[in-house]
Amino acid sequence: MGGTVAIATVALILHALSAVVWVGGMFFALLVLRPASALLQPPSRLELWSGVLEQFFAWVIAAIVLLLLTGYGLVFGVFAGFRGIGLHVHIMQGIGIVMMLAFFHVYFAPWRRFKAALARQDHAEAARQLNQIRWIVTLNLILGLLTVAVGSSGRYWG
Ligand code: HEM
Repeated sequence: MGGTVAIATVALILHALSAVVWVGGMFFALLVLRPASALLQPPSRLELWSGVLEQFFAWVIAAIVLLLLTGYGLVFGVFAGFRGIGLHVHIMQGIGIVMMLAFFHVYFAPWRRFKAALARQDHAEAARQLNQIRWIVTLNLILGLLTVAVGSSGRYWG
């Protein structure tokens, strides 16, 4: 296996797995856990989401670091820079950066406010912040599914 092929193989595996963890986690949270957790009363429902998101956001940060390292590793180590990449990589990079900014907004604004509200037992405020998080994560799930579609099919666009 040549050096470039080895870099491409390792980078693509880690890149695709990071996308699976981030996008799959959002899918599970919104379409599986959310309807099931609606059966719980507010205090325990909010505590459940506090624990779930604490763990999930740590994985998202790891996924973002790996997506960036492997994405730009591919661009500069395999495709020889931005002149060598297809339209699909430009689109993936653009949407990917929007997703990352949206995530860090959630992480530093509504997520912090959610935890602070929960700590002072202000359940109404915590529920409001959780709702805010849900809308942004819904947007990121749509963008994430789009990015996976673009990233995985783009090399055949011609
Ligand atoms: C933000 C910077 C990013 C850069 C620079 C980048 C770069 C790349 C490159 C160069 C490829 C290989 C394309 C090819 O072989 O034609 C790729 C593939 C891919 N990317 Fe990204 N990417 C980024 C973000 C993302 C994000 C946020 C996601 C999803 C959440 C994503 C999902 C994928 C997928 C699913 C593939 C296809 C893997 C495969 O089937 O081989 N990328 N990316």
